[in-house]
Amino acid sequence: MTASIPNGGILINRKDFSRDTSGIEAGIELDDIALSDLELIANGAFSPLTGFLNKREYGSVVETMRLSDGAVWSIPITLPVDSAKAEELQSVKEARLVYQGTTYGVIDVEEIFTPDKENEAEKVYRTTDSDHAGVHNLYSRPDHYVAGDITLVKEIPHERFGAYYIEPAQTRKTFEEKGWETVVGFQTRNPVHRAHEYIQKTALETVDGLFLNPLVGATKPGDIPADVRMESYEVLLRDYYPGERTFLAVFPAAMRYAGPREAIFHAMVRKNYGCTHFIVGRDHAGVGDYYGTYDAQHIFREFTAEELGIKPLFFEHSFYCTKCENMASGKTCPHGKENHVILSGTKVREMLKNGEMPPREFSRPEVVEVLIKGMKETTS
Ligand code: ADX
Repeated sequence: MTASIPNGGILINRKDFSRDTSGIEAGIELDDIALSDLELIANGAFSPLTGFLNKREYGSVVETMRLSDGAVWSIPITLPVDSAKAEELQSVKEARLVYQGTTYGVIDVEEIFTPDKENEAEKVYRTTDSDHAGVHNLYSRPDHYVAGDITLVKEIPHERFGAYYIEPAQTRKTFEEKGWETVVGFQTRNPVHRAHEYIQKTALETVDGLFLNPLVGATKPGDIPADVRMESYEVLLRDYYPGERTFLAVFPAAMRYAGPREAIFHAMVRKNYGCTHFIVGRDHAGVGDYYGTYDAQHIFREFTAEELGIKPLFFEHSFYCTKCENMASGKTCPHGKENHVILSGTKVREMLKNGEMPPREFSRPEVVEVLIKGMKETTS
């Protein structure tokens, strides 16, 4: 396999810093999710999207996981506004996209529509339960969607992770320069544990490069903050990863917690970043007990290899086995559960909060130190 082709055929670029917005009266205030969506549409990570979905494309994505031309797209990317704003926008052609007083973009207002959010929740999240973090966001955002192409008119500042903000056009170039014909992408929103390291390195055994791409956009309360997670990656990469085969960059998207649908979305986006392979392990992008352990792998059967254009690499639940004296999974280990070092996320967070070290078979001590320090700083 050679370097991947962007979703829909070409990498979208919707940036025009020379576009004058001073004459545009209407403005839409963006929340964190919409701001990151604007950026990811503009820089091509969300190719082939050129803007926020119109009613037809929204319906197509919600019902079929594809855009109307057949391109795979499983999560609706929408711009919600309240009734008053929807009314005001009826008579305008364009509106500024504003975040905390600064105009970052423009939308060519094509239409405004009112979605059936229960249907969206049921189809995209497989539940209408508002306790689900993604459904909660869906229900709490305003009730009308503004559709239309966007232009990014001003670079969004990247104070937190500066050098790690690398856009798809650049990652593609870097992969090429490194001579990587096959690259496996890894999505994560959690601190890196031995199981993550195991599946990443197992995948790397069969491809040229590993693209570590931690999500740093909006996450739910209780998730470990992105800067702590990034620091844990930095210390781990320093001592345990081959620098010439590993590439770390942030994925500035919001987490949807849509499990299976989000796994497809994550794969499409990593294809746009230039990956040829994508790791999907246990309960990918899941939350609580809403999804079966391997639902996010099974959903890939609903697409042909040609449609996907990126090869998913599936991994079973991995752990350290004290009998094997090795990392393993249910697929490779013959021993009973009592030999497996498995800790729930809740348990780990509790231990870290109390300054307790999870066992080194579960997490590298260097990483634990960063996490304990990070937990102290966020709770103090
Ligand atoms: S996610 O929400 O971004 O999927 P997380 O950062 O925990 O959460 O997972 C990143 C990737 O590693 C996902 O593909 C997930 O399925 C996989 N993964 C996490 N833990 C394990 C594990 N113990 N065994 C196998 N795969 C895992």
